[in-house]
Amino acid sequence: MKKRILVAGGGGFIGGHLARSLADQGNIVRVVDKKPLTEWYQVHDDCDNLVLDLNDKANCYTAVNGYNEVFNLAADMGGMGFIENNKAECMLSVLINTHLLMASRDLGVTRFFYASSACVYNGEKQTDPNNPGLKEADAYPALAEDGYGWEKLFSERMCRHFMEDYGLTTRVARFHNVYGPYGTYDGGREKAPAAMARKVIDGELFGKDEIIIWGDGEQTRSFMYVDECVEGIQKIMYSDIIEPINLGSDEMVSINQLVDIVEDIAGYKLKRTYDLDAPKGVRGRNSDNTLIKEYLGWAPSYPLVEGMKKTYDWIKIQMQEKASK
Ligand code: NAD
Ligand code: GDD
Repeated sequence: MKKRILVAGGGGFIGGHLARSLADQGNIVRVVDKKPLTEWYQVHDDCDNLVLDLNDKANCYTAVNGYNEVFNLAADMGGMGFIENNKAECMLSVLINTHLLMASRDLGVTRFFYASSACVYNGEKQTDPNNPGLKEADAYPALAEDGYGWEKLFSERMCRHFMEDYGLTTRVARFHNVYGPYGTYDGGREKAPAAMARKVIDGELFGKDEIIIWGDGEQTRSFMYVDECVEGIQKIMYSDIIEPINLGSDEMVSINQLVDIVEDIAGYKLKRTYDLDAPKGVRGRNSDNTLIKEYLGWAPSYPLVEGMKKTYDWIKIQMQEKASK
């Protein structure tokens, strides 16, 4: 039977991919985002597309009305450059999840998904670049990323209490840095994979010979290709996993290694300059996938080099099109 599914934040990167996947499976999908339609990363004509600010409680009731399942991907967020400088704005996204939960409770929603983040993890567990992988238990005692991470941690708990107290079925995944086509690659909210691709393409296409890297480049992360994020979201949504769970790659690389990968794809090398005053975030972060493998017999595994090839090609086309205008 066709399900009626709401994707909140579907004008953005992951929500746009998720809405495509859900509609392709024959569901009736409503997509909501606060950006004007012309700024959505993907617009799917076979979905019901609404422009609404979901900070507003009444708008959440309008969005949810008539739909049975809710995926909340809406948040004011970005990479380190954004979250370090916009903490209050990041925390205001608490209104989106709170009001969507209330509307879901009151309007008979059967399942609710919340997109949390690796930024909920205790900063003291992320001081070593050789991070062995963050286990779900490492979120407590709490010392989340200031602003954005605390909002995610609070909203996770709100989901849990709506399940315990009101019987709303909620599922929560902690995404580790997601990349791929249709992601933000400029403007200040971009994350490292897209930023590195853009900076190398600046060299390949426009002859720049220097790349500026934030920090010393030895900080580490793992990066998850967006298709696996979309797959994992649905596996978790329809599972019996009631606690927040990692959804991320465990292929950890340093930012210097990420730049090596991008330069190899481009066949173009740049002189590296390190900006030690730029936003750096934690020193080392990786996903421990023990729990997701136990529950689902599955974890993200797409090689970074393959995902970066696709991402690089997509960003290059966007930059060529912009330049030709
Ligand atoms: P994105 O910025 O591309 O998409 C989020 C969308 O939410 C945007 O289109 C934005 O306009 C919309 N939005 C923001 N405030 C809104 C509001 N008040 N009402 C309606 N829409 C609103 O981000 P993304 O990368 O697609 O991330 C999706 C979710 O996953 C977010 O909750 C994010 O925090 C989480 N997450 C993403 C990553 C990542 O690496 N991309 C990592 C961890 C967690
Ligand atoms: N964005 C960006 N741009 N980061 C750079 C750059 C650059 O040009 N150069 C080096 N970096 C470094 C940052 O300093 C940071 O140490 C590392 O690359 C990763 O940066 P981001 O990709 O911006 O963010 P993050 O991994 O610290 O956090 C992201 O992932 C979380 C989930 O794992 C953010 O997107 C969070 O919002 C998200 O929740």
